[in-house]
Amino acid sequence: MSDLTGVKQGTVTPYEAEIEAIDPKIFLLESSTTRNDRQSLLRLQRLVRRENDDYCYLEIGSHLGGSLLPHLADSRCGLVISIDPRPAVQPDERGPMFAYQGNSTQRMVDGLLRHLSEDNLAKLQTLVPRLYLWVIEGRIRSAASR
Ligand SMILES: C[S@@+](CC[C@H](N)C(=O)[O-])C[C@H]1O[C@@H](n2cnc3c(N)ncnc32)[C@H](O)[C@@H]1O
Repeated sequence: MSDLTGVKQGTVTPYEAEIEAIDPKIFLLESSTTRNDRQSLLRLQRLVRRENDDYCYLEIGSHLGGSLLPHLADSRCGLVISIDPRPAVQPDERGPMFAYQGNSTQRMVDGLLRHLSEDNLAKLQTLVPRLYLWVIEGRIRSAASR
């Protein structure tokens, strides 16, 4: 059953209510995103979660997990993939080389567990690649190539 906004009825957790309300409060961990970024990300998440009750979130570059948290907290997200090679320093188009002190998957997971349950974290897959070879071949449509 759906309500007037198209949201399927069911138990809505406080975190899910924040997603639906586009409330940046759900960004409980430090994140490099601005308030506007967070609102834009939540709008996208709301759009996807209203249409799918088992979506996958793939993120490249996670640091402390701030932008992963809203998806880990979302029961409609069935899989969260975080890819981050966690180099000691990295070039950045904003100018200087940025160092991310103590940047590790374990620290990220520990931080996420301060706000989320083990069950929430069970859908998290973390990859720490040395080298990428990507092939993204999804839906083939001529409109997509215009
Ligand atoms: C700005 S932080 C990410 C912040 C996070 N998305 C948030 O807002 O909560 C950048 C992250 O990108 C990671 N990174 C650096 N080089 C990368 C690469 N080649 N591929 C994926 N991640 C990379 C760094 O280790 C760091 O954790």
